[in-house]
Amino acid sequence: MAKKKPEGYLSAKESRRISRENRKITNAYEKQRKRKNVPESEYLTTMRDPANSVEFDNLHTYFFTDAGTVKAVDGVSFDVPIGKTVGVVGESGCGKSVTSLSLMQLLQRPQGQVVEGQIRLNLGNKAYDVTKAPNEVLQKLRGNYVSMIFQEPMTALNPVFRIGEQINEVIELHDGEGNNEADIKARTIELLKMVGIANAEGVYQMFPHELSGGMRQRVVIAMALACNPKVIIADEPTTALDVTIQAQILDLLRQLKDRINSSIMFITHDLGVIAEMADYVVVMYAGRIVEKGTAEDIFYHPAHPYTIGLMASKPVVGKKIDKLYSIPGKVPNPINMPDYCYFKDRCEMCVERCDGAYPEMVSLSETHQVSCYRYSDRKERE
Ligand SMILES: Nc1ncnc2c1ncn2[C@@H]1O[C@H](COP(=O)(O)OP(=O)(O)O)[C@@H](O)[C@H]1O
Ligand SMILES: [Mg+2]
Repeated sequence: MAKKKPEGYLSAKESRRISRENRKITNAYEKQRKRKNVPESEYLTTMRDPANSVEFDNLHTYFFTDAGTVKAVDGVSFDVPIGKTVGVVGESGCGKSVTSLSLMQLLQRPQGQVVEGQIRLNLGNKAYDVTKAPNEVLQKLRGNYVSMIFQEPMTALNPVFRIGEQINEVIELHDGEGNNEADIKARTIELLKMVGIANAEGVYQMFPHELSGGMRQRVVIAMALACNPKVIIADEPTTALDVTIQAQILDLLRQLKDRINSSIMFITHDLGVIAEMADYVVVMYAGRIVEKGTAEDIFYHPAHPYTIGLMASKPVVGKKIDKLYSIPGKVPNPINMPDYCYFKDRCEMCVERCDGAYPEMVSLSETHQVSCYRYSDRKERE
């Protein structure tokens, strides 16, 4: 009698077949992307609302791996308004980083591909769909229009170059010609001062290892701001720092936002950070958005059982409890997603209809939307 294979087991033959198929799919995408002289009309688009700097519209980003297709982002739509901060929350692995890497078009190639949807980037006088833009164009958009502050400042900086040289290089690469050395240095010093480094001239000459973690993160932020980007993605920018430094960096980002009038897409698994930073909040679960709204909607009127669970599992200063709430169960396997609500197996508030197909987004107010059957019921009865 054949031994029972563990769940998710693939035979060598099956795995070879999958990787052959994957190669066919990803080669087609890569060929499309590597074309030269693509006419602008192919990636030119119009914003649905010119007050947005980015619009994610039904974004699907998949990874074609040898174990199967990982639907890391599976139909995500939200807007980042000009000058506002949008917080993206959700537990580890829910697709937050993949969403932001799709905007930067820095997904791991060739397996990571945007297979459906648009990401519209507002360039002021026109708009581009970055998912269709060729590499040459993307290179100009990165830094000048969108830039990213990474989680781990030590890995984002090159250990063998001085801080000043690294920031100078960013300015040289993106600001184009006509800049002389003295101008560039002056701009770098100005940036270092802007991110709160008092001894800017001294730090200019230092190597990354001579700085503390908080100082390094300030330098990384200075690099991200070097070319006045319209959109800044901050992917867990404070997770690697201790709490007092965390608070300083958050203060800094808040001040900078007002000064430069850019939009910030703030990614974190920490609700406390979101409460301090965000104007709008998007809650992700297993590659989809389960709830979105203004920060007030989400914090004072959480509607999705997952958001309610997240709120309940957040420690509150001054409130004494024996044990902090934790949401039972775990996230479903991203290769084999169920065809009903992804949260159903962990949900403590299920209704009968939850056995049905994945629930659609329901509007609770002009700003507040949720994907849950508990509300679609209510809406129909009205
Ligand atoms: N390069 C990759 N290859 C395969 N799967 C990936 C890759 N990068 C991310 N994933 C998968 O995509 C999903 C979302 O990941 P990610 O966006 O990094 O989560 P997080 O919300 O923690 O930032 C996860 O299930 C992860 O395993
Ligand atoms: Mg991440």
